[in-house]
Amino acid sequence: MTTSTARVPAKINLALAVGPRRDDGYHDVATVFQTLDLHDEVRATARPDGQITVRVHADVDEQVEHADVPTGDDNLAVRAARRLAEVAGVETGVDLVIRKVIPVAGGMAGGSADAAATLVACNAVWKLGLGRDVLDSVAADLGSDVPFLLHGGTAVGTGRGERISPALARGSYRWVVATAAEGLSTPDVYAELDRLNAHREVPDPQVSEDVLTALRSGSPAELGTMLTNDLQKAAISLRPELRDTLDVGLGAGALGGIVSGSGPTCVFLVHDEQHGLDVSFALASSLTCADVVQARGPVPGARLLS
Ligand code: C5P
Repeated sequence: MTTSTARVPAKINLALAVGPRRDDGYHDVATVFQTLDLHDEVRATARPDGQITVRVHADVDEQVEHADVPTGDDNLAVRAARRLAEVAGVETGVDLVIRKVIPVAGGMAGGSADAAATLVACNAVWKLGLGRDVLDSVAADLGSDVPFLLHGGTAVGTGRGERISPALARGSYRWVVATAAEGLSTPDVYAELDRLNAHREVPDPQVSEDVLTALRSGSPAELGTMLTNDLQKAAISLRPELRDTLDVGLGAGALGGIVSGSGPTCVFLVHDEQHGLDVSFALASSLTCADVVQARGPVPGARLLS
């Protein structure tokens, strides 16, 4: 049986403006996405009986099953494979093995990333030869962040986040990523934002020109002051200790720091590796987060390894 493996990065939102709740329950957003080099891998092995299965491991040796990821039909990678099979009229099945590095329910689109990698790996293992346009439209049906994770880099997202256009960004940025022990549910965070906004008029979302200008300048110091996230107040309302994590990172001299997407992961922009070590040390010794890693962005989106 043939096997194909794809790797896919995590994403953060450098800016995330959220509009009012739509009739379909989603919110229009205007966001600037960036991929970071924290990668999951999805290995797809074709199976003749039409079944689609998934296993998720957190360790390189693939000995330990990941406790926090569902492996049933609601797993987004399984849904991605099933949807692609329907669209392409494929009857072959697939065994998916995910090697998980991206935090689960962390606001870094780990589930969406695995869906994007699954589309790329299944396109190869089933020898479909589908182009980007078909994969993009399947991706958009699966989740708001999936199209961006197929593309990667730095991009503006509108609609639910699924309409992507590349953003001009100079250089590479170094981030410190502080994860939390327990995830947050994205629908819960959006619902909390609606509750907090109940008595005010929410404007249509816009990407601020300032963040795009900062990206074109390639200056981390400039970009650091421009990071914004409308979901941050909702994530902090549900998880007040995130304020402490942000205060520690910013107090340690990070150029900027925000909750990533719907949280609870917090990300801090730093000048270079040494600055990253200083901020990481302050965060790790503060005990306000579960784990701290350094990462770089932007990087390419879901790509075939073999
Ligand atoms: O698109 P995705 O399945 O990742 O979205 C998960 C949930 O997050 C949605 O069901 C919705 O509650 C919320 N969401 C939203 N507006 C968006 C994106 C997500 O309300 N633009």
